[in-house]
Amino acid sequence: EKGGYDWFMLKEIAEQPAVVADTLRGRLTDTGQIVLDEVRLSDQDLRDVTKIFIIACGTSAYAGMIAKYAIEHWTRIPCEVELASEFRYRDPVLDRSTLVIAISQSGETMDTLMALRHAKDQHARILAICNTIGSTIPRESDAVLYTRAGVEIAVASTKAFLAQIVACYLIALHLASVRGVKWGDEVSLIVNQLREMPGKVDQVLDTMQPVRDLAREHLSDARQVLFIGRHVGFPVALEGALKLKELAYINAEGFAAGELKHGPIALIGQDTPVVAIVPSPAGRDSLHGKVISNIQEVRARGAKTIVIAEEGDEAVVPFADHLVRVPRTPTLLAPLVTTVPLQVLACEVAASKGLDVDQPRNLAKSVTVE
Ligand code: F6R
Repeated sequence: EKGGYDWFMLKEIAEQPAVVADTLRGRLTDTGQIVLDEVRLSDQDLRDVTKIFIIACGTSAYAGMIAKYAIEHWTRIPCEVELASEFRYRDPVLDRSTLVIAISQSGETMDTLMALRHAKDQHARILAICNTIGSTIPRESDAVLYTRAGVEIAVASTKAFLAQIVACYLIALHLASVRGVKWGDEVSLIVNQLREMPGKVDQVLDTMQPVRDLAREHLSDARQVLFIGRHVGFPVALEGALKLKELAYINAEGFAAGELKHGPIALIGQDTPVVAIVPSPAGRDSLHGKVISNIQEVRARGAKTIVIAEEGDEAVVPFADHLVRVPRTPTLLAPLVTTVPLQVLACEVAASKGLDVDQPRNLAKSVTVE
C-alpha cells in the first residue's frame, strides 16, 4: 500500500503534483475564473468582510502564515494568523464582519475546534479549509473549502500542507474578484502561474537526489540546524525546521532572516548548518538581496549553507556550500516549490538515522486533546 516507497511520507511527498492539480480542479477554469460556488458564503457576506483571522496549529498554521501574505496583497483586507491554542485565550476582537478561516488537515484538532467555537460565539463567519470530509471542524463552520490531498497517513504533514496553501490562494483570489479589487496584470499572471504549479512541483521532485545525498552525508550528525527566510520564505523556514525536529529529533529552528542579528546569530558556528530560502530575484522590493546579505552574515561566522534558490539565480552561487534549485515562480506562489526539498531533507535525515519516518515518537496524527 506504500506503492513501492519505503515510507508513506515519501509516497505522500511524491503525490504532491497530483494533489495541487486536484485541489485546483474545477475551481480555476481555463479562462482564469475562480469558481468557488461550493463555498457557501454569499458574495454579499464576502464583500462585508473587514478583517480576517486565520486559526490553525502546527504545519497548518504555517500554511495560514503564507496565506496572510497573499490575502493582504491581493485583497487589501487586514489578515492575522494565530495559533489556535493562543487565539481563544486572549479575548480577540471579532464581530459579524470578521471572517475566521480555520485550517485543519484532520478536521478534528481540538485547539482549532475550540478557537472556532469561540469565534462563532462572537458572531464571526467561519470558513474551514479541511482535508477530511464530514469531520467536526467543517461541520461546525459556516462554509468549507475541501483540500483534495486524499488520506494522509504519515504523521508529518506534507501533501496536505501544499493543498492547504493552494486552497488559501483560491480563497484569496475569490475574495479579490468578488470585492472588485482591480484585477491587475500581477493577479492575472498569478492565475496563469497557479495552473503551472503541478508541473513545477513535479520538476522539483525530479531533482531531489542531491538533496538526499546531502541529508545523509552532511546533516545526519548535525546537532542543530537553522532555517532562514523572508516574506513567504519565513513560514517555509518554520515548516522546514518543524519537519526536521519532528522527524529527525534534531534541534531545528526557523527564523525570519532579518531577525538574525537581533539574537539568533549567536547560535551560529561551524557546526551549525543553515538552510536559506532565497526569494525570486524577479520579485518586488529588495528581498532577494537582503536574503543574500543574511547568507553572507552566517557564512562569515563559519556556518555551512544550504541554499534553496531559483534556476538562473547566479547571485547566490558564491555563497552556497550546497545549492538546491527550484523552478522560477512568482514570490507568493514559491512556497509550493521551496517546501518540497525541505520535506525530502527531513525525511532522508530521519531515515538515515534509522528512525521511524511515518510514526515519530510522542506524536499523533490527529490531536484531539487540548
Ligand atoms: C506537522 C503536523 C502537525 C499538524 C497539526 C495540525 O507535520 O502534522 O503540526 O499540522 O497538528 O493538524 P491539523 O491540520 O489536522 O489540524
